[in-house]
Amino acid sequence: MGRTVAKMAQLGERFRRPFFVYRSAREALKALLAGLHLGEKVVLLPDYVGWSSREGSGVADPLDELELSYRFYHLGPRLEIDLDSLKHELSHGDVRVVVLIHYFGYPAAGARRAVELAREKGALVVEDQAHSGLTDWVGGLTGRLGDASIYSLHKLLPMAEGGLLSIAPPLDEVIDPASQADGVQLPWNFDLHAIAKRRRANAQFLAKQLEALGSKVEPLFSPPGPGVVPQTFPVRLLSGDRDWVYGEMNSRGFGVVSLYHTLIQRIGPSDHPVTHALSRQVLNLPVHQDADEEPLKDLVRTLGLLL
Ligand SMILES: Cc1ncc(COP(=O)(O)O)c(C=O)c1O
Repeated sequence: MGRTVAKMAQLGERFRRPFFVYRSAREALKALLAGLHLGEKVVLLPDYVGWSSREGSGVADPLDELELSYRFYHLGPRLEIDLDSLKHELSHGDVRVVVLIHYFGYPAAGARRAVELAREKGALVVEDQAHSGLTDWVGGLTGRLGDASIYSLHKLLPMAEGGLLSIAPPLDEVIDPASQADGVQLPWNFDLHAIAKRRRANAQFLAKQLEALGSKVEPLFSPPGPGVVPQTFPVRLLSGDRDWVYGEMNSRGFGVVSLYHTLIQRIGPSDHPVTHALSRQVLNLPVHQDADEEPLKDLVRTLGLLL
């Protein structure tokens, strides 16, 4: 026998991915790391972690608040994981958690091998999906390699606050359910597929429009392929002063951001020249679900005039 099919799915553990609700991704990360009781064990972070006077650091603040030890592995100029650097950091034998960040919604290049390397050394992998929730829920391209993921809802949806932690059983037992927040709206209140479709189309449209600016602007990533849902479309400004351009664009009504304009102090320029150079040049163009093609065309035209 064994060749039968039940009327309904009954395997409660199959494909189960429990999630916990918080006010922000940083609260979700803090709850997870607190639950792991890391003691002297080390957390590894990629060396592109931002700070701002208004928001602090979404990634480093939870670690500092818990007084955890952390070090950095290097990323390349397109935010790809430098696997040799990761291997080197893991070789010290003191790492318990490796954090991967899927920047701006794009799956981190090198993630699969990075997870293998982490597992070989007995480290857990946390996927920071503050930007890539839609690439996970709609595209299915992220959030399936690691042991847990954190999400930021207000970075993708019109919500004032919201964060999630999803975690593979049996590790979910480390989470204190009482650490969760009440009254947070869940993403399933929105048509995530429609939002993903618009964001992808906007990024593809922007990529095409940007070709007219020639070598002044270099998209950090290719136009999003199937399943990739961008949070913003990051470009490198190869001419002009990024901070001035940022100010001018916003004063003209084009809501660009520069998400990692300042790296946290511990990521110093001499040890981390590649990501420092990026942090000075990257401008994040909007692709969100409220944006349409005509205003995006004007955005690119205005950007071209400023460069
Ligand atoms: C990569 C990354 N992870 C986590 C966070 C924290 O997100 P939240 O604002 O939901 O705490 C941020 C932003 O601050 C981020 O950019």
